[in-house]
Amino acid sequence: MEDKLTKIINRYWVLFSHVPTSEEKMHHHIWKTLHKTEEALTTFSLLLRSKQTKPVCNYLENIFNNYQDDEPLLDYLKDLSHLLTWEFGYDELPDNLKERYAFAELLGPRGMVISDELILGLVLLAPNTYYPRHRHPNITETYICLYGSCSIDLQNQRNVLQKNDYLFVPKGNLHAIFSDKDNPCLLAYAWTSDAKTLKTNQMKLESY
Ligand SMILES: [Fe+2]
Repeated sequence: MEDKLTKIINRYWVLFSHVPTSEEKMHHHIWKTLHKTEEALTTFSLLLRSKQTKPVCNYLENIFNNYQDDEPLLDYLKDLSHLLTWEFGYDELPDNLKERYAFAELLGPRGMVISDELILGLVLLAPNTYYPRHRHPNITETYICLYGSCSIDLQNQRNVLQKNDYLFVPKGNLHAIFSDKDNPCLLAYAWTSDAKTLKTNQMKLESY
């Protein structure tokens, strides 16, 4: 289990190390993501929470059965998926989204691997899902598409993400995600901020 988690976190490091950084804010965010990942792997302090699934997790089987065999992260996740804590993260979530969305954290202040200024996680969307506009006032975010495809509207500009594509979301920027109409979408994400913000962050949708 420690071994599998190490492989997963290492693979996040590799994926994020391949993200080209053009501007300074993004460069700093990716640098911090890599630096904090290395730090967490050195101390490797584990905090395991109780396993939790959500209705959208039914699509994981579909993903694990159909992905092209060229992304080691999906191999590792397949082995560990029974241990993940899938959550909604919002106090108020539209009913249809409860069936179609969830996220899981792999590294961060709440575990599974403890880190203070970085969260690494997964977002899972059912096919044909609209994840409404939201913003994270003090958190900088990068998404990498692991499976399927989606469009992310960022400050009213549409970005299409297919496998291995990434999108940088500066702190405070409004964004919304639409998954492909026929396939589920699995995204990896990194959040960087100060320790307090990551520990106490409450998510809120702007509109739905
Ligand atoms: Fe977000």
